[in-house]
Amino acid sequence: MKDIIMNSSRDKIKQTGEKGKQMLIGVHIGNGYGSQQGAWRMPGVDPQSYTSYDARIKQVQAAERGKFQFIFLPDGPGAVLTDLETEAPSFNLDVMLTLAAVARETRRIGLVATGSTTFNEPFNLARQFKALDIMSHGRAGWNAVTSSGDAVAANYGREIPSSQERYERAHEVIELIQELWGSWEKDAWVHDQEIGQFAKKDQINPINFEGKYVSSRGPLYIPPSEQGQPIIFHAGGSPNSQELAGRFANVVIGAAFTIEDARKQRKAFREAAKRYGRNPDEIRYIPGLMTTIAKDRRTALDRRIKLTADLFPQRIAYLQQMLGVRLDVNNLNDPLTKEQLDAARPSPFDPRSRHALKIAKEGWNLRDIIAHGVIDYHPVIVGPGIEAADHMQAWFEAGAADGFWISPDVNEDGIDAFVDEVVPILQERGLFHNDYEGKTLRENIGAPDQYGVDPRVSQ
Ligand SMILES: Cc1cc2nc3c(=O)[nH]c(=O)nc-3n(C[C@H](O)[C@H](O)[C@H](O)COP(=O)(O)O)c2cc1C
Repeated sequence: MKDIIMNSSRDKIKQTGEKGKQMLIGVHIGNGYGSQQGAWRMPGVDPQSYTSYDARIKQVQAAERGKFQFIFLPDGPGAVLTDLETEAPSFNLDVMLTLAAVARETRRIGLVATGSTTFNEPFNLARQFKALDIMSHGRAGWNAVTSSGDAVAANYGREIPSSQERYERAHEVIELIQELWGSWEKDAWVHDQEIGQFAKKDQINPINFEGKYVSSRGPLYIPPSEQGQPIIFHAGGSPNSQELAGRFANVVIGAAFTIEDARKQRKAFREAAKRYGRNPDEIRYIPGLMTTIAKDRRTALDRRIKLTADLFPQRIAYLQQMLGVRLDVNNLNDPLTKEQLDAARPSPFDPRSRHALKIAKEGWNLRDIIAHGVIDYHPVIVGPGIEAADHMQAWFEAGAADGFWISPDVNEDGIDAFVDEVVPILQERGLFHNDYEGKTLRENIGAPDQYGVDPRVSQ
């Protein structure tokens, strides 16, 4: 049976392969434990992983073994967003320092960190990311986001500016930074000991950027990296975000619960790229996927129950709203009754509700419905690797995704599970590369050459 599935999939993929397109896969590293709140307490997990660079390096090396194109570090910046009494903070100690440590212990995987365009001086961002790009031999990516939330703004003694202001500033910040990255011309660095010429001074020029929000004289005294300069990523979904990414980004880190929504978002980003005279294939839209990979559905559900048991009362209360029926938190072992299923109506206010009802109708008990991840912040695979591969293939072939960023439940063994159980199926189906195409992130994601600002989008 499995062979039949494999063969029919392989035939399908030939078509995908002929178009020369394969999916990108990144992994969310975050706080070092995993995407589930209970990850830090799982057996086998070092409870001090939050501060352990050794743990982080081990996790990224696991992802590199699976040929993932990149790791992704979100950042508040600096916000906690969790109840520290019982939970780990959401983010990394410091994303740039983490990537610097990881850069020295890995060889091919791309290193992508979030850097807020609202809460940073562009010169500092330009310098740090270009230095990381040099240090990693051309593997740096900058996830340029505008940030949101009062918890973040409070760290900077500020209030969160309006979306319009944040995005206007973001356009200026990215353009300024790319100008700085290009301010040291490609052949300027001579370092000729014989003749005593260090650099061609006339090829290292100020940028004299003056915007409404940010300015810089420059230049930035850093030569080109092996990929020229870092790759721009962006995370968001609003029309403002689409416009920013359409102008500058090569990869969009997205969030979508349904294939229809993902397809719509992907189309919007591609249209935005076209408005700037870019080829829409230059922008890759990759929604999130959360994973609990185990040998079968039951084992995977039990693992998630262990990880999230503390959340059941609060999640059952929310599930009631999603389905529009009363549920009893004391009856976790019971499925919904026929009357409840007949009365249930998926909430139009939460795009996850239809899927939650579908799972409920399959007859799972309340505990298992929640354990399917129906209230998580991305689609969730709870089961064997083939289920993840099928989901990814379906979205990829429907034009809903150019790849995925994976949030394993527990990093310690969840990255390995994905690498061992999902990646080989995707490779077998021709959907994912067998090895890195080159040394740099630019080569490995197939982004076009760029140095400085892309003249097509410069203002
Ligand atoms: C998938 C995804 C990941 C995001 N990651 C981050 C992040 O790591 N740090 C951050 O400050 N904002 C992050 N954001 C938030 C965006 O920066 C932005 O503030 C948010 O999408 C709201 O912006 P809007 O005004 O475009 O709606 C993320 C958004 C999405 C959709």
